[in-house]
Amino acid sequence: MQTTRSLSLRLGAALLALPGLGAALPSNCSIPIVRDQELQDAVTIEALYAHAEALQSRAYSTPGRNRVTGSEGHNLTIEYITSQLAALGDYYSVEVQPWTGATQQFGEIAFSVNGVEYEAADVEFSPNATISEAPLSIVPNVGCEAADFTAEVADTVALIHRGSCTFAQKATLARAAGALAVIFWNNEPAGVVQGTYGGVAEGVAAGGGISQADGEALVALSSNTTLTASLTITTVIETVFSANVIATSKYGDPDNILFLGAHSDSVSAGPGINDDGSGTIGILETAIQLSKYRTRSKVKFGWWTAEEAGLLGSEYYVSTLTEEELLKIRLYLNFDMIASPNFILGHYDGDGSEFGEVGPAGSAETEHLFEEYYESLGLNHTATEFNGRSDYGPFLASGVPCGGLDAGADEVKTPEWVEMFGGTAGIILDPNYHQAGDNVDNLNPFCLEVMSKGIAHAVATYAGSAFAGYPPRESPEKRSVEQKLQKKTTLRQPPHNAFPVPI
Ligand SMILES: *[C@@H]1O[C@H](CO)[C@@H](O)[C@H](O)[C@H]1NC(C)=O
Ligand SMILES: *[C@@H]1O[C@H](CO)[C@@H](O)[C@H](O)[C@H]1NC(C)=O
Ligand SMILES: *[C@@H]1O[C@H](CO)[C@@H](O)[C@H](O)[C@H]1NC(C)=O
Ligand SMILES: *[C@@H]1O[C@H](CO)[C@@H](O)[C@H](O)[C@H]1NC(C)=O
Ligand SMILES: *[C@@H]1O[C@H](CO)[C@@H](O)[C@H](O)[C@H]1NC(C)=O
Ligand SMILES: [Zn+2]
Repeated sequence: MQTTRSLSLRLGAALLALPGLGAALPSNCSIPIVRDQELQDAVTIEALYAHAEALQSRAYSTPGRNRVTGSEGHNLTIEYITSQLAALGDYYSVEVQPWTGATQQFGEIAFSVNGVEYEAADVEFSPNATISEAPLSIVPNVGCEAADFTAEVADTVALIHRGSCTFAQKATLARAAGALAVIFWNNEPAGVVQGTYGGVAEGVAAGGGISQADGEALVALSSNTTLTASLTITTVIETVFSANVIATSKYGDPDNILFLGAHSDSVSAGPGINDDGSGTIGILETAIQLSKYRTRSKVKFGWWTAEEAGLLGSEYYVSTLTEEELLKIRLYLNFDMIASPNFILGHYDGDGSEFGEVGPAGSAETEHLFEEYYESLGLNHTATEFNGRSDYGPFLASGVPCGGLDAGADEVKTPEWVEMFGGTAGIILDPNYHQAGDNVDNLNPFCLEVMSKGIAHAVATYAGSAFAGYPPRESPEKRSVEQKLQKKTTLRQPPHNAFPVPI
């Protein structure tokens, strides 16, 4: 803050001293500094729905009916964002940062045992498999040790419990033991396992996931029945060309940056209007409304590609920043799923009070800002895990203070949450998570509006004040120690959405 104040004083003095330049002053100063309530009021549910419809109609205009990284639907999403920003004149300078990498474009699975079909999901980045009538074997424990895979696993479809280590580790051990393929059964009642191998993987068995109930039933049945499985998995994995979009505001101190981000891609199953169309449009509409104001801090908005494939776009962007550039980011705010139909009103646990992971200095203050925001509206709120499993992960791992709002993905709603937020206990917070039904009709408008205005509140508070009273960035020396610690805890974690529950 000190830097900003002395800088503007110096500029002010210079302008007063030079009448020629002074003439330009009124027109700039006729744009007011951003005002909190005004900005919140300007972010309307009507505008948010118009953006949501725009994203959905673009997805549905393509053969895949989705916005998966590298698809036409995703390209149209990027075009929509950049054209909306371009309409604001020169308020933002917009960078389209090319990115290329492997992503799964298509996935399909059919799994049956003794002629009975089971609901299943392909593991992302799984190899193909065509298995007709092979024995189903039950792997003991959770399949994280070579010793869990006995000779009996060879030439079978191996049923493995989820938990403790990655899907890739289990599938590698299974393949080494001669398994034809693996099926993971869930360790929580949230539905079928939606796993990922985290990228193109060598030496893994083809994999799928089923529900906890189906897994338990198969294990029980195996005690007295011979089980014969058939399994077909088809995935299409392609190296695709895509892009991040980064918009930087015209006004404000470039050494005190407020950064907001959301991912622009969906999974292949559907248009992804909550995940993460909601975050995409929440920050987009805030960016649009902000253009009527000046800010004291520079504001950057990032729309990240390939989050669903493993935070790839945001990780790439962060890797292109120098140490110096990273230190100029005072705060990174992430918004991934802010309109879940069976929502909770969540804020990342930056102070570690619920989940024990404390973020870099500032993360706690930001969590408290959001807590106070909800409280000012008379609303309940709850902390959500601050584990780097969405696009803030790479920023956090680089020592940047982080925060964000979160309405929930595949966590099962508890009776306590129903008391606090309404909704339905015993089902997940977004029943359409990673499915075709993640569309405009299934957004929760109340949650979308509250959280989008929360974004506006954070922008007005921080960018309007140049982070007055906010903790300074920690020194690089201290940070590098913390960074190492955080890398241990965050980079090992899979992304939020591709890999909802890590293990
Ligand atoms: C101030 O306004 C003038 C005239 O509209 C414009 O040319 C100039 O770029 C503005 N300066 C800033 C810093 O925006
Ligand atoms: C998407 O855009 C990229 C360039 O950014 C292009 O290479 C690619 O062919 C496009 N994909 C589709 C499916 O249109
Ligand atoms: C799976 O098979 C399809 C053809 O049916 C092919 O296009 C695709 O590349 C294969 N996937 C993998 C991962 O080899
Ligand atoms: C086999 O076990 C299953 C599950 O425990 C049970 O439902 C079924 O009745 C048993 N069948 C026989 C023939 O014992
Ligand atoms: C907040 O949660 C409590 C239960 O903890 C509930 O009684 C109250 O009605 C909730 N308030 C709102 C506004 O939902
Ligand atoms: Zn997401």
